[in-house]
Amino acid sequence: MNAGRTKLNQMPEWTALGKHREQLGETHLRELFDADPGRGSGWTLQVGDLYLDYSKHLVTDETLGLLRELATAAGVAELRDAMFRGEKINTTEDRAVLHTALRAPRGAVVEVDGENVVPDVHAVLDKMAAFADRVRSGEWTGHTGKRIKNVVNIGIGGSDLGPAMAYEALRSFADRDLTVRFVSNVDGADLHEAVRDLDAAETLFVIASKTFTTIETITNATSARNWLLTELKADQEAVAKHFVALSTNAEKVSDFGIDTANMFEFWDWVGGRYSFDSAIGLALMIAIGPDRFREMLDGFHLVDEHFRTAPAEENVPLLLGLLGVWYGAFFDAQSHAVLPYSHYLSKFTAYLQQLDMESNGKSVDRDGNPVEWQTGPVVWGTPGTNGQHAYYQLIHQGTKVIPADFIGFARPVADLQPGLVAQHDLLMANFFAQTQALAFGKTPDEVRAEGVAEELVPHKSFKGNHPTTTILAENLTPSVLGQLIALYEHKVFVQGAIWNIDSFDQWGVELGKVLAKKVEPVLTEGKGAEQLDSSTAALVSTYRALRGR
Ligand code: F6P
Repeated sequence: MNAGRTKLNQMPEWTALGKHREQLGETHLRELFDADPGRGSGWTLQVGDLYLDYSKHLVTDETLGLLRELATAAGVAELRDAMFRGEKINTTEDRAVLHTALRAPRGAVVEVDGENVVPDVHAVLDKMAAFADRVRSGEWTGHTGKRIKNVVNIGIGGSDLGPAMAYEALRSFADRDLTVRFVSNVDGADLHEAVRDLDAAETLFVIASKTFTTIETITNATSARNWLLTELKADQEAVAKHFVALSTNAEKVSDFGIDTANMFEFWDWVGGRYSFDSAIGLALMIAIGPDRFREMLDGFHLVDEHFRTAPAEENVPLLLGLLGVWYGAFFDAQSHAVLPYSHYLSKFTAYLQQLDMESNGKSVDRDGNPVEWQTGPVVWGTPGTNGQHAYYQLIHQGTKVIPADFIGFARPVADLQPGLVAQHDLLMANFFAQTQALAFGKTPDEVRAEGVAEELVPHKSFKGNHPTTTILAENLTPSVLGQLIALYEHKVFVQGAIWNIDSFDQWGVELGKVLAKKVEPVLTEGKGAEQLDSSTAALVSTYRALRGR
């Protein structure tokens, strides 16, 4: 796929963008807004429930035209269509990339190797729904006959971040009588804190691992099983009522001792970081119920269809992807901030870090040649108001170009007390004020006009001209969450397609795993230190001494 494509930086469209950037020079957003009074209301797009304002970007009509020409030359639409058709666009792993099939409606046809996968997708969703209903209604009980009140998801990376983020986001839709926790870290403290106040007889462990070989997850799952059996003073047969598995690997699930009847399957064409709307979402489905989960899938699907069919000028993921390429290549932007103004989205950026950085943190192209352009940015951020009192200073007055996404909602999600509902306007006043300040700043003359002493004028002036995207929706519902995530999934896709990298492999995580396996026996048994480099050997020796070994 795309083999032998002209190098990005040798495309005439790329050269044209470089020239255009020079012409744009230091053009300020203030000038762009002055030149076009309709910019604020006109430079917006709508997809589903998401209203997107891209007026505060350092772009003109010409910029956007040139960027779209680049997308055409780079073959973004062709690669997109190949992905939706189920072609094996993940070439280094020889796999199809079909997270879009996970939310295809019943009756749709999506083929992998000549077989329609949609019936299998829905069969698993139905099995998940039946199980979630049994847990939620109390029909599914633990080994001693007690009702399940606690659900602990054990997984890491894509088998943790998605469901953990979505559970947080949709808390107000969740059954508040259920305690739902997520354990990912191989640091024993994580599992300890998650189970220390739980009654094992009321606890269900959901072991989430695509491969079922991930050392952190298998270690935590084994410890959870030991905890359960010790607490219940029971033998292996208790496992069946307290452990279910979400995986592509039935053999390993069975080896672990989980009955494959209690396994919810997915497939190798679902990447880990694209998997939380597969069986990996089971803990979320138990929390919010199958109907809400389906609403979320419909939200994903709505944006999939938009991405697949909307013309380039209206295609929101395409636009967001292109803007990121623009800043990375021509403004030397190294990072991208995602700033949700919603407490419920507190884990959203952490989720996007894996989605974006594991996908596009690559430095060779699809043919294995080193890339000669910037690829994926560092993605970071936390809920906005907290950030305002921490790192926003650097965005406003630092020396770096940091494009930022502001995500906000017109209504507070939860059924809050009236006083707390009123706080929402204050939250959103901050939201709008920040993008305004970032774009337009405050000139030295404006500062002087306030009577500020001359020596303080440089300190109190704001250059502005910091690009932001604003995404607004009425409410953070399951559907809106699905729409938001699909938007970012496809944005990441667009960028990977333009940079000509494989966004769906993650070979970079392997070396550390292999080395950890070699280091562990040195820590525990003290053997083999001579095979380590001198720094690691010295560190290991200090560690062993501190542990009294
Ligand atoms: O090590 C990285 C990774 O493979 C991620 O891509 C994945 O989401 C995570 O580990 C967990 O993998 P698994 O679901 O197979 O346990």
